[in-house]
Amino acid sequence: GQEEDKQSGKQRLLVVANRLPVSATKMQNNEWKLEISVGGLVSVLLGLKDFEAKWIGWAGVDVPDKAGQESLTKAMAEKKCIPVFLDKETVNQYYNGYCNKILWPLLHYLGLPQDETYTSESHYDVYKRANLLFAEAVTKHYKEGDIVWCHDYHLMLLPQYLKQYNSKMKVGWFLHTPFPSSEIQRTLPTRSELLKSVLAADIIGFHTYDYARHFVSACNRILGLEGTPEGVEDRGKLTKVATFPIGIDANRFIRTLTLPKVQEYLTNLRERFAERKIILGVDRLDMIKGIPQKILAFEKFLEDNPDWSDKVVLLQIAVPTRTDVPEYQNLRRHVHEIVGRVNGRFGTLSSVPIIYLDRSLDFQALCALYSITDIALVTSLRDGMNLVSYEFVACQASKQGVLILSEFAGAAQSLGAGAILVNPWNITDVSSAIAYTLNMPSEERKMRHKLNFEHVTIHTAQEWATMFVRELNETVVEAQLRTTQ
Ligand code: G6P
Repeated sequence: GQEEDKQSGKQRLLVVANRLPVSATKMQNNEWKLEISVGGLVSVLLGLKDFEAKWIGWAGVDVPDKAGQESLTKAMAEKKCIPVFLDKETVNQYYNGYCNKILWPLLHYLGLPQDETYTSESHYDVYKRANLLFAEAVTKHYKEGDIVWCHDYHLMLLPQYLKQYNSKMKVGWFLHTPFPSSEIQRTLPTRSELLKSVLAADIIGFHTYDYARHFVSACNRILGLEGTPEGVEDRGKLTKVATFPIGIDANRFIRTLTLPKVQEYLTNLRERFAERKIILGVDRLDMIKGIPQKILAFEKFLEDNPDWSDKVVLLQIAVPTRTDVPEYQNLRRHVHEIVGRVNGRFGTLSSVPIIYLDRSLDFQALCALYSITDIALVTSLRDGMNLVSYEFVACQASKQGVLILSEFAGAAQSLGAGAILVNPWNITDVSSAIAYTLNMPSEERKMRHKLNFEHVTIHTAQEWATMFVRELNETVVEAQLRTTQ
């Protein structure tokens, strides 16, 4: 690893995110098993050929002893990852508490929790401490000329900490969630500190124009700062605010479909569901994904369209996430209850209308499923972008199925022309969309698919990363020019 660094001579990019692209498990012989999560940001950054990328993020496991920390640090270095160690209590208050119980619902318009926990300072104090630990890790590895790209709501205090340490450091921050209306942001007790801190960055990126607009107006209403067409200005310092819609590595999906293993999966799936149209849902089991609403809409569809009842199946993959947070545990119980009810109501001795899994699928099985699906049903109540919708489209070259997509997902801005857009809160609307889509003429289906397929294969994750990093580099050059004039 280190050898290559010295030799490559490329500009270094430090990517800081709560989660690293590798997950570590301790083996019985005390060695570490590292698994790379190939999806998401990793493949993106591999596409940045001009940069030498390094990752800084939470180790993801509890390693209380120094020796263990050292051995994991060493193992991860080979994967270009630098782990930040957080003890159990810190994880509980920073990650489960402040990030997942407070910021995540707020950014998705679910508001602050109704119980009193959010008024206690402790979650926020620990959030600060955790952000400081990330900042320390960055400053320890930072070399002049590096650029630093901070990600997401876990690290809103990081831009300020980094600039305090070195005002010349090039710092960007990208938010992967929506940024809500300023009226929502206003309710957060720490609203000003968080906004001021991210404004310390040189450039701030969002998925959609609306999120950027909400952010600028929050800076205006809450901090009294002037919004300009380029960003937000504070006493002569301009922080650029811009829109960078993320994408996927579409070719990876397209390539995977040609593998023999996937073909095998496809043969089995075709046999299994020969008589039925497949409606597919793939979501992390999160309240923002609108899974209960989706199941209720499907129930309504079955009620209103009895002729379809044994000719269609809803496959819902619900990937477990944040399982230590009580709200997520409750959601799981609730979803189980309504899935059970619908299957009890509409099932027969030979089949049930919903096949529901509480787990993730391996990548090849997932690609096979995407490709055999007739309708993808994405009903997020709010969603920064929603890449499941992109992944489905990428796998549909032969089937040319239809995407039913929530208008509250960022993806509705980019795939809106090809998808059938729905309001996920309106059960009747979603149920009618299912009925409409099942009967859609093939010409319309193909036309809609074509629009989406073009978008997904042209606006890739690589393009997204390249644009952000380029802007970040250019922005700082300008800022330095201004101070020397
Ligand atoms: C969202 C967030 C990411 C986060 C992911 C999975 O996409 O924007 O930052 O990593 O959810 O959630 P988790 O809490 O498991 O990291």
